[in-house]
Amino acid sequence: MRRLVILTGAGISAESGIPTFRDPGGVWEKYDLEQVATPEGFRRNPDLVHEFYNARRRDLLRVEPNAAHLALAELERSWPGEFLLVTQNVDDLHERAGSRRVIHIHGELLKVRCEVCGRVFRETGKIFTRTPCPFCGKPGGLRPHVVWFGETPFHLEEVYEALIRCELFVAIGTSGTVYPAAGFVEVARRAGAHCVELNLKPAENAHLFHEHRYGPATRVVPEWVREVLEESLSGSGKAL
Ligand code: APR
Repeated sequence: MRRLVILTGAGISAESGIPTFRDPGGVWEKYDLEQVATPEGFRRNPDLVHEFYNARRRDLLRVEPNAAHLALAELERSWPGEFLLVTQNVDDLHERAGSRRVIHIHGELLKVRCEVCGRVFRETGKIFTRTPCPFCGKPGGLRPHVVWFGETPFHLEEVYEALIRCELFVAIGTSGTVYPAAGFVEVARRAGAHCVELNLKPAENAHLFHEHRYGPATRVVPEWVREVLEESLSGSGKAL
């Protein structure tokens, strides 16, 4: 099995200090999703939405990739076949760990988009409702370059192209509740892929996976990576 697609969710970054969304104490317990993560919420109260994302951007700059991110970067460097890492996370911890082929289907926290001129650019500081776009100079058009509920995720065509060809699909630290990502395992299964879940506890869609490893990502991901790399080098084993 040489064609590998990995899907990551908030659980992989939890031990770096970024709270997940739906675990106890998660983001959606503290904030109203409708207010801060929908286009309607942004139209109603852009100040609040900018405040929420400014704080998340600041918090992201204070944390570091963990052993799970590093293990996936090592896997990509050593993997003998096709490799694609798809993440629902808006953090940049995969890139900082050294991953190269990463698709952010829910956008990126350190990017901002101008809805007037369409430019997407890197932003590590704060933006406000009236902050002018550094490219077109117009105020009022900047928004986080993230995908809100009700919006279409990015780069899905490329993701599905990889899924329909993949032989090994691995979902890491995701609750399997948000579509389309929660449905990727079904596409991979139909393609005949061996599907593995690495998670703290079973996801909503856990029954769709052939294999499960439960525990914190910083333990289960490096362990699994070591195993698949050993199997790929020896050219044997069930996963390869
Ligand atoms: N190691 C591994 N998994 C963990 C850990 C950990 N240390 N801590 C939590 N988890 C698991 C939880 O068991 C759960 O399955 O991570 C998952 C987190 O689930 P969610 O909070 O729902 O995060 P995610 O699946 O990424 O959410 C999907 O929902 O709100 C939107 O856009 C947001 O991209 C996000 C999407």
